[in-house]
Amino acid sequence: MRVIRCVNYGEPRDLAVEEMPEPVAGPGEALVAVEAAGLGYVDALFVRGTYQVKLPLPFVPGSEVAGRVVAVGEGVADNLVGRRVMALSNRGALAERLALPAAMLMPIPDRMSAEAAAGFIVSYCTALYGLETCGHLRAGETLLVLGAAGGVGMAAIDVAKAMGARVVAAASTPEKRAAALAHGADMTLDYIQPDWRKALEALIGKPGVDLVYDPVGGPFSEPAFRSLAPGGRHLVVGFAAGEIPKLPLNLALLKRASLVGVDWGGEIRANPKANLPLMKKLADWVADGTLHPEPAAVFPLEKAGAVLQDLLERKSIGKPVIGMTA
Ligand SMILES: NC(=O)c1ccc[n+]([C@@H]2O[C@H](COP(=O)([O-])OP(=O)(O)OC[C@H]3O[C@@H](n4cnc5c(N)ncnc54)[C@H](OP(=O)(O)O)[C@@H]3O)[C@@H](O)[C@H]2O)c1
Repeated sequence: MRVIRCVNYGEPRDLAVEEMPEPVAGPGEALVAVEAAGLGYVDALFVRGTYQVKLPLPFVPGSEVAGRVVAVGEGVADNLVGRRVMALSNRGALAERLALPAAMLMPIPDRMSAEAAAGFIVSYCTALYGLETCGHLRAGETLLVLGAAGGVGMAAIDVAKAMGARVVAAASTPEKRAAALAHGADMTLDYIQPDWRKALEALIGKPGVDLVYDPVGGPFSEPAFRSLAPGGRHLVVGFAAGEIPKLPLNLALLKRASLVGVDWGGEIRANPKANLPLMKKLADWVADGTLHPEPAAVFPLEKAGAVLQDLLERKSIGKPVIGMTA
């Protein structure tokens, strides 16, 4: 089978396709013929070896997968064979076949392509968990999404619109802002311009935004927190800018505002059942056409290294997906 392997930590652009024997489904496992793999910023950090958890070498990158079950191991029901499934695993998705514990597989919702499914679980579950469970977003509220044209940001736009919010999408380039607008944002903001808070106020007026969805960190977080309306909530989702910002706590007091950590992965490890209602709601929204998870572009396996490099170099737009037949 064709596969991409990380043999040494380093720049993702150096990854290349190689041939390896197919895995076999062991006891309790299912063998999945991979149709698509979703990639995120964390996958690129795994390849560099700079994520907080290091994957032992060698490993196959790619943590989100969608495809069809082609065989099952001992103790797994035969009727799983042929089912369309999606799953999360911290490695292994950039390969034509992947053996996974059958218990980790989720059915792909009706009407969803394998490409959309591969990019769905992490970004959309994080968005709904963040906005609803952690942020208590209500219809009619105004949400500012930082890094809005990234994979996590685009899902937040889609979910927030489904919840009836007004969405301001902040991104660094005209292309990224156009992509966020096309994905459903009501307004866009160039947050690279100096004093972008004035531009935000011109867009939405006082008293400010009700929620900030922040997967970026760095120099953007404090001005975003300062842009909250009284009673606002700032959702800490990630640090794609690299630097972990610090916040003067008097701002929280003055605004009666909350800083809320959003760790969807930690939440489902601690409480696996918590994800069931989130997935049910998301699947219903996919089925009735409320959500739009189709990726803007699907890349062939040979491009996976370049796609991961683009994530690190801030060049990626939307959720990058690898299609095994693209
Ligand atoms: N909390 C959770 O449960 C959870 C779940 C999934 C992911 N995450 C985290 O969310 C973050 C975003 O992930 P993603 O997959 O959406 O990444 P992504 O597609 O690369 O998007 C991140 C965005 O951050 C902005 N950015 C600002 N400075 C950057 C820099 N120096 N390098 C790269 N990007 C920069 C970019 O937008 P502009 O160019 O417009 O500024 C980029 O579009 C990551 O930190 C990831 O670990 C958290």
